[in-house]
Amino acid sequence: AVDLKGRHFLKELDFTPEEFRHLVELAARLKAAKKAGAEERLLTGRNIALVFEKTSTRTRCSFEVAAADQGASTTYLDPSGSQIGHKESVRDTARVLGRMFDGIQYRGNGQEVVEELAAYAGVPVWNGLTDEWHPTQMLADVLTMTEHSSKPLTAISYAYLGDARSNMGNSLLVTGALLGMDVRIAAPATLWPREDVVAHARRLAEASGARITLTEDVAEAVRGADFVHTDVWVSMGEPKEVWDERIALLAPYAVTADVLAATGNPDVRFMHCLPAYHDLGTAVGREIHQRTGLTYLEVSDEVFESDRSVVFDQAENRMHTIKAVLVATLA
Ligand code: CP
Ligand code: NVA
Repeated sequence: AVDLKGRHFLKELDFTPEEFRHLVELAARLKAAKKAGAEERLLTGRNIALVFEKTSTRTRCSFEVAAADQGASTTYLDPSGSQIGHKESVRDTARVLGRMFDGIQYRGNGQEVVEELAAYAGVPVWNGLTDEWHPTQMLADVLTMTEHSSKPLTAISYAYLGDARSNMGNSLLVTGALLGMDVRIAAPATLWPREDVVAHARRLAEASGARITLTEDVAEAVRGADFVHTDVWVSMGEPKEVWDERIALLAPYAVTADVLAATGNPDVRFMHCLPAYHDLGTAVGREIHQRTGLTYLEVSDEVFESDRSVVFDQAENRMHTIKAVLVATLA
């Protein structure tokens, strides 16, 4: 039996396929229990720290609601409201929070920060997104794909279109590789995941039977796909100056009705971790919005609002899957 008590949740590569599937299955059970009004509180009296060095809607709310449902309390430290990384080292922060809390969520920039927190905290640390990985999102995405497919996990195929050198590109590549799925990444080669990430995914695929495709060709990537994923073209923490170049590079990778049609699969579903946005705070974002009337860049309004779109199921599943991580590592 899988036992994750006391474990950190830092990146997908730390888990076996069995452990990862266990978390998704636990999330499905917790979701069903909540919907049936039969949720059992397994974390009464626990205290959880939520450290955010980047902003968040879904991840923060998921941790807060999941903890409350389970009887635990949370303390939120906002992107500017703590000493971490500015006035106090990560190592000292870890040792302080570890004395007060039973577990720590961290969202920030470098993966090395969350790894350092985990090394010194003495309590489970959960990665709520770094520049490199978004592992709690992967649990939600896999749960959502299983809910919207009648196929076994290893028979499901999905394509990711857009900036694949990001946390979402990396995470979707290695998660499918770990679980033996059919993963296709479509992006300009300069925005593919780094060589070492691809090499790791290929090694995982050898063990799991996953099929991995990296291509610049959208039609090749989406042919026969069960799911088409995308994400914003510029991630949190990236300089505004990259917008123009990204738009030029990624315009052919926007998910439109034509892209969904090119799957040849009438049951195809559209996924996006959200937030989907134009950065209207930037001149380039405003200019595009005014010129094109588009709400988003990476996906057309038609696809986003269509009955193919499961983005809000995906968002809800953040909460159920994060609850599974809390229960599995703390209860
Ligand atoms: N998908 C996701 O992580 O959303 P937030 O940035 O709102 O947490
Ligand atoms: N790639 C995006 C994901 C947001 C959930 C970012 O890092 O901003």
